[in-house]
Amino acid sequence: MFKRILVLAASASLALTMTACGSDKDSGGSGSGSSKIVLGFSQVGAESGWRTANTKSIQASAGTAGIELKFSDAQQKQENQIAAIRSFIKQKVDVIGFSPVVVTGWDAVLKEAKAAKIPVVLTDRAVDSDPSLYVTFIGSDFVEEGKKAGQWLVDEYKDAKEPVNIIQLEGTVGSAPAIDRKKGFEEVIGSNPNLKVVASQSGDFTRAKGKEVMQALLKANKDVDVLFAHNDDMGLGAMQAIEEAGLTPGKDIKIVTIDAVKDGMTALSEGKFNYIVECSPLLGDQLMATVKKVKAGETVEKRIVTVETVFDQAKAKEALPTRQY
Ligand code: AHR
Repeated sequence: MFKRILVLAASASLALTMTACGSDKDSGGSGSGSSKIVLGFSQVGAESGWRTANTKSIQASAGTAGIELKFSDAQQKQENQIAAIRSFIKQKVDVIGFSPVVVTGWDAVLKEAKAAKIPVVLTDRAVDSDPSLYVTFIGSDFVEEGKKAGQWLVDEYKDAKEPVNIIQLEGTVGSAPAIDRKKGFEEVIGSNPNLKVVASQSGDFTRAKGKEVMQALLKANKDVDVLFAHNDDMGLGAMQAIEEAGLTPGKDIKIVTIDAVKDGMTALSEGKFNYIVECSPLLGDQLMATVKKVKAGETVEKRIVTVETVFDQAKAKEALPTRQY
């Protein structure tokens, strides 16, 4: 009996030790003695297929890289991102990563991270703060994406003798992709005076808003030739509005979008979209590699640009069967 009590006591104490080890690791942070690098990541939200793929990429890559990820979804609100970053600072994570919903308003919280000696890595979207407040920015060149979309229109309508009326659905107001894609697009189509943006409004990067805004714009603009949507999701919502208005997307109204997620590529391969400029959400591996380098005190490049392509209908058909997201 005495022997049995001893065995039970020994295994209880071992279980306690194991729990303690586990919780030590889970709490992470440089001060906790954890062996794993702890990354606090504040995501914009789940507004689009692109964002879902981006979140999956970050979570999967953290797992593969053996990095402990503290993930926070800001539901497209800047105040939620600022609160998450402050909480990461309090928890003494090793590195903070975030995809800023808008460009402005980050100075104070970035200075707090710097004062706490926690390096910050930006992914996907840029900020207009002093570059010394973050280590690097990994993501697409959004101006270039807008230019590629514009170039397709310039080529497609090079022989047009009459005005080509364009509706532009912009992304989230004040966000880097909305500002930059609009800039790049309008700069390139400016070379042909026949290409006219007759209406330009935000659809907040969501399918629902894309549909709602397109319904209103179709009522106000009777002779629309082209839709340029800053992402696939808004394009897909607008596509429904076009169909419900009795028009044929891809023919009566040509559709150009950005992203190249599966649903967008399906619409392209079915002839309902005409052209997609790729914006890759698969940033996880690059982020984790950068986090490891930063933690090891290695220098990283200040700007890491994602490599991307473009898709017409034929290329979409080819790519679709193996598209990961
Ligand atoms: O910042 C990247 C953009 O944000 C993607 O194009 C869009 O789909 C997402 O919501």
